Amino acid sequence: MEQAQVDTQKVLEQFGKYVIGNYSRQPIVVTRAQGAYFWDAAGRRYLDLFPSWGCSLLGHCHPRVVAAIQKQAAELIHVDNTFYSVPQGQLAEMIATRSFGGKCFFANSGAEANEAAIKLARRATPENKYKIITMEKGFHGRTYGAMSATAQAKVHIGHEPLVPGFVYVPFGDIEAVRKAVDNETCAIMLEPIQGEGGVRIPPPGYLKALRELCDANKMVLIFDEVQTGLGRTGKWFGYQQWDVVPDIMTLAKSLAGGAPMGALVAKSEIAAKMTPGSHASTYGGGALVAAAAIAGIEAIEQENLLQRAVELGEYIVAKAKTFGEKTGIVREVRGLGLMIGIELEVPAGPIADAALKEGLRVNATQDVVLRLLPAMVTTNEQVDAAFEILEGIVVKQAQEANR
Ligand SMILES: Cc1ncc(COP(=O)(O)O)c(C=O)c1O
Repeated sequence: MEQAQVDTQKVLEQFGKYVIGNYSRQPIVVTRAQGAYFWDAAGRRYLDLFPSWGCSLLGHCHPRVVAAIQKQAAELIHVDNTFYSVPQGQLAEMIATRSFGGKCFFANSGAEANEAAIKLARRATPENKYKIITMEKGFHGRTYGAMSATAQAKVHIGHEPLVPGFVYVPFGDIEAVRKAVDNETCAIMLEPIQGEGGVRIPPPGYLKALRELCDANKMVLIFDEVQTGLGRTGKWFGYQQWDVVPDIMTLAKSLAGGAPMGALVAKSEIAAKMTPGSHASTYGGGALVAAAAIAGIEAIEQENLLQRAVELGEYIVAKAKTFGEKTGIVREVRGLGLMIGIELEVPAGPIADAALKEGLRVNATQDVVLRLLPAMVTTNEQVDAAFEILEGIVVKQAQEANR
């Protein structure tokens, strides 16, 4: 494909002048992307093991998603929820029949899906109940409700007072949750696997114990599956790994093959509490993104990508362990499907920065964790190339330190 002529310096200057600086951006202008690669304005190719922060689980610009968007755009881009539209209903059925049944509400992002979940949890439980227990190092988004649900002080700085009613406990500690429950608690909300928190997998029995606690205290269990959902772990939804069914589940990120979409899925009796006037989203469930999401789900099924997520995930975990043996800087490798955290003995940020300079994109989180959220279409050879780059960086950094 022909590259448009783009002047990187000009784009950076334009951003400096006209775009709010709330992101720490790398000085790279991405002009196109395909599969596990993206290209910058100078035509340089990058191997992307963290495509779109997890949104491009199918790989960048999956041909089926591109074709569905092109077709839908020519027919109907958007119609508001005053009316019915075919793709929204089809998508809701596809999600419900691959999860726990129930009904969907569509939004545009993970934060909005979580916002809806917080509102619905309060509405669906007795009036005196309003508190929601969430987990330390969890991440639920940047809007006020989702931010208040996010038990990380760094996210709150400058934004207090938060929305009242959120109670934070350590992830994985069932006793701490039991102690935190009182007769005003309406919900427990968590990611089945913490993503931004460093790819933390729940201890055995933890999610089941939360389910039992919710049942015993008339509380709803909310799983934020914004990162774990839609096949990331090798099953359609993360909760299916443990067979613990939530009352409400939220989705976003990879839901629409890289296009912006969020969703809340609730058991029917809870969904019934979301009545006209109680919640809404003008763009929610629009035809264009719904068509993209349908194509994405079809691609996963027709190309057997859930199975691929399992195999590729195992391959990457094995490579990460070998990387640890070779370099001696890995404390622990955690992973389930295509959600992989490599906890290091050293800061992860400088390694991720050096990798980008070498044409490899990975993410650093929680100071010492290299996080990979690779696309299902990534090949084993691409993974080999990535670890070669990472090994080279560690060797180089050790040599520089000894100089
Ligand atoms: C688990 C989880 N929930 C919610 C969000 C927020 O999603 P969004 O950025 O689409 O609002 C994220 C984003 O990283 C996330 O990882």
